[in-house]
Amino acid sequence: MAGEITLRKIREAAYLGGEITPPGDKSICHRALILNSLAEGAAKISNPSPGEDCRATISCLKALGAKIQKGKPLPSPTLLISGTGRLGLREADNVLDARNSATTMRLLSGLLSAQPFLSIISGDASLRSRPMKRLIEPLRLMGAEIWGRGQDSFAPLVIRGKQVHGIDYLLPVPSAQIKSAILLAGLFAQGKTAIYQTTPSRNHTELMLREMGAELETDGNWISLTPLSAPLVPIGFHIPGDISSAAYWLVAAAIHPNARVKIMNCGINPTRTGIIDVLLAMGAKLKLENQRLEGSELVADLLIESSELKGIEIAGDIIPRLIDEIPVLAVAGCAARGNTTIRGAGELRVKESDRIANVVKELSKFSARIEELPDGMVIHGGKLLRGTDVDSHLDHRLAASLAIAGLVAKGETTVHHAQVVKVSYPTFWEELEMLTGYQPEEKS
Ligand code: S3P
Repeated sequence: MAGEITLRKIREAAYLGGEITPPGDKSICHRALILNSLAEGAAKISNPSPGEDCRATISCLKALGAKIQKGKPLPSPTLLISGTGRLGLREADNVLDARNSATTMRLLSGLLSAQPFLSIISGDASLRSRPMKRLIEPLRLMGAEIWGRGQDSFAPLVIRGKQVHGIDYLLPVPSAQIKSAILLAGLFAQGKTAIYQTTPSRNHTELMLREMGAELETDGNWISLTPLSAPLVPIGFHIPGDISSAAYWLVAAAIHPNARVKIMNCGINPTRTGIIDVLLAMGAKLKLENQRLEGSELVADLLIESSELKGIEIAGDIIPRLIDEIPVLAVAGCAARGNTTIRGAGELRVKESDRIANVVKELSKFSARIEELPDGMVIHGGKLLRGTDVDSHLDHRLAASLAIAGLVAKGETTVHHAQVVKVSYPTFWEELEMLTGYQPEEKS
């Protein structure tokens, strides 16, 4: 894009300190937008995620008939959502554009499978290369008519909405997006839907649906949903800070020799706090204060300071609880004493970029000793990182994670395609500047 800053230079920081309030949680915000758009009446949400991903969800929902407007920006930004309720959504007059956002595409596809009109949904090159069979398969079992490019493997997706029916489904991948897509179709299905998840994933959809009056029960790893007999009740709340964005500062402070950072109003839903468990197990000086509920989501303030980390093994059921934080945890592994091994994270290969190959490739450029595994990586920690030129591969989590490595690397680091942080954390570079007290150079 003309005039966009695509390159950031970072120097080893002498000090890292201050107070930070991470942007509103992206996963929670998508769901608050979608579910309130279905509700009967209006809701006001404050602290919506400012990233491009949630903007894509807003544009799609507007095209489907929901009214979403900006409210008062102070003390924190708000959105007013008028749900379509009993009237229902309407057919969009163009292709829906999910841009870079798989959550937008997958959740909306589930919902649109059960609406009485045709929808076509597409996205950018990265999203069009991500697996969609895992979405199409369960929706077809529900009777949906949904097709994708490459023999139903990829977007664009075409959906001829119709009356679907409930299913009993064993989720083959621990994906909250697929689980949520099935639940959204299940709201309008004939008969109950039951989902069995072998490994639990983030449960924001379940929590929010229940709060909005849906009949949803959970029993161990089972979720069972009764179709709606009346529209959802709107809910307004303050969206907690995104722990996936807070993760950069948690790792930065833990690995920096002279750091103390307070992270305010951070979501600590237990299905998302793998990063906290891992950092504590690595020896991080991390404290949770002022724990409270925001709607049905747990929130706390986090205090973290310079720590002597040791390498650990990260594998098993914890993986879905920290899947998006693995790039920055790999940076923590580089700074830790001993080896950090990450296994069972093959899903990383089908995120916004191949996060196993790209994390290994880019961290190696800092002189880190790191080996690729089919489903993870082994990081031989404790080696001095050297500033270098690295590339985000147009992946927002990689851009920010590489910047954190740059903060502790000797000399200067340049992150190319740095603008991509806007997908989830548009103010990332300003916050980095604020916490380190210097201005990273920017170039177009
Ligand atoms: C998300 C679920 C996860 C996560 C993604 C957001 C969500 O993806 O990686 O960033 O909001 O449901 P999967 O469902 O593919 O595991």
